[in-house]
Amino acid sequence: PKKAVVGPLVGAVVQGTNSTRFLIFSSKTAELLSHHRVELTQEFPKEGWVEQDPKEILQSVYECIERTCEKLDELDIDISNIKAVGVSNQRETTVIWDKLTGEPLYNAVVWLDLRTQATVEDLSKKIPGNNNFVKSKTGLPLSTYFSAVKLRWLLDNVRNVQRAVEEGRALFGTIDSWLIWSLTGGVNGGVHCTDVTNASRTMLFNIHSLEWDKELCDFFEIPMGILPNVFSSSEIYGIIQAGALEGVPISGCLGDQCAALVGQMCLQEGQAKNTYGTGCFLLCNTGRKCVFSDHGLLTTVAYKLGREKPVYYALEGSVAIAGAVIRWLRDNLGIIETSRDIEKLAKEVGTSYGCYFVPAFSGLYAPYWEPSARGILCGLTQFTNKCHIAFAALEAVCFQTREILEAMNHDCGIPLRHLQVDGGMTNNNVLMQLQADILHIPVIKPFIPETTALGAAMAAGAAEGVNVWSLEPQALSVLRVKRFEPQIQATESEIRYATWKKAVMKSMGWVT
Ligand code: G3P
Repeated sequence: PKKAVVGPLVGAVVQGTNSTRFLIFSSKTAELLSHHRVELTQEFPKEGWVEQDPKEILQSVYECIERTCEKLDELDIDISNIKAVGVSNQRETTVIWDKLTGEPLYNAVVWLDLRTQATVEDLSKKIPGNNNFVKSKTGLPLSTYFSAVKLRWLLDNVRNVQRAVEEGRALFGTIDSWLIWSLTGGVNGGVHCTDVTNASRTMLFNIHSLEWDKELCDFFEIPMGILPNVFSSSEIYGIIQAGALEGVPISGCLGDQCAALVGQMCLQEGQAKNTYGTGCFLLCNTGRKCVFSDHGLLTTVAYKLGREKPVYYALEGSVAIAGAVIRWLRDNLGIIETSRDIEKLAKEVGTSYGCYFVPAFSGLYAPYWEPSARGILCGLTQFTNKCHIAFAALEAVCFQTREILEAMNHDCGIPLRHLQVDGGMTNNNVLMQLQADILHIPVIKPFIPETTALGAAMAAGAAEGVNVWSLEPQALSVLRVKRFEPQIQATESEIRYATWKKAVMKSMGWVT
């Protein structure tokens, strides 16, 4: 017999660059009941190119849903308790597919991909009027990071894509759109949509009017007919048509960093979180105001939790390479076998012994926006070993976070007094202590690091027509947390940070 009452449950797809996960939460207690994770392949067909197979991504979502539901069943919990599903995803990654066959027309061009460097340079010469044309509408600098230039590249270079566009068969989307379209029926009536947070990362979306912007589409020469419909982050988009969750509505959709902001309950102006995934992303809720940065931060849509609800904005510091440096040490250098080994190595020495590692594999994002930067390891001696390199890799993540935190403090005027963190890397206690030391403020980590999933589940559960999760402040769960206090003198962190800055300068202008 099935366990009788667990109350309504909500599932969340977390489709990241490195892995896909599906998690099921209780909507009453925010307790995580069951989950499954699948690691994904990344392809690097040429120097600077990063691609993923959209079908592998979709397959991984189905696999995670099936396995998570099986695990729930093993707990004697009836899967019919799952009332809604939310989607959160790696942002900007660009997919274009054929709506008649459901086949992708090219691999997904991943946010980290640098192939559009020349496209960006050409476009920046053509910017009409003042240089602020793109930034004032989108909150974003013209960069290889965002979808519009990736889409431009696909339209210029892939014959299949050109033909499908001419024949009216092509659909464009970020990963959320590809997944929602496929899960809600694909060629048999799939819903082609996105939410305001994901749309705000395409560089085609006007973050003030919350619509696709005709002038931007003209500038990038993107046909508007291939763009998805834009909805809020919390409403029923469609119904899952196959698999264990057939019949369940998809009613939440947020870019992963925005989902983490919601999952960390940063729903008030001035609240911020930093997520350590493939990259590292610090978002500060700026309320209903669009705040523009003077220090290399992005202005982005944070969330809009319901069709009739107001939109909230965030300032964002984006670091391209965080967890990706650990994967690189594992896959490219082979100095660790699993990502978890990095903590052991770093702990063994407790210092980088003067070694600095700037992992500018995809140029440098905030606050520099310098595509010419490349990774460097410096300060090496004959004494340096793999443990020091491991430590330097962790320290690099912390230094990069300090750079975006300082930019955030300048733009907001009120310095953050502590840093709320989440994401896979926060399981690494050496990293967390190092982060507190280098920032010289406390670092606060929730016991559930899966706040991205929690945010997507909250959005889905709160949607009109689902109504199993309340977003009223008094009903929000209080996350239990662990604190890391700084343990070194401020002067020591200043010295190390100053040396890091020297190393960053050396990494710039490497390619011209
Ligand atoms: O903007 C890219 C970001 O959304 C990727 O997230 O979790 O894959 O590091 P993640």
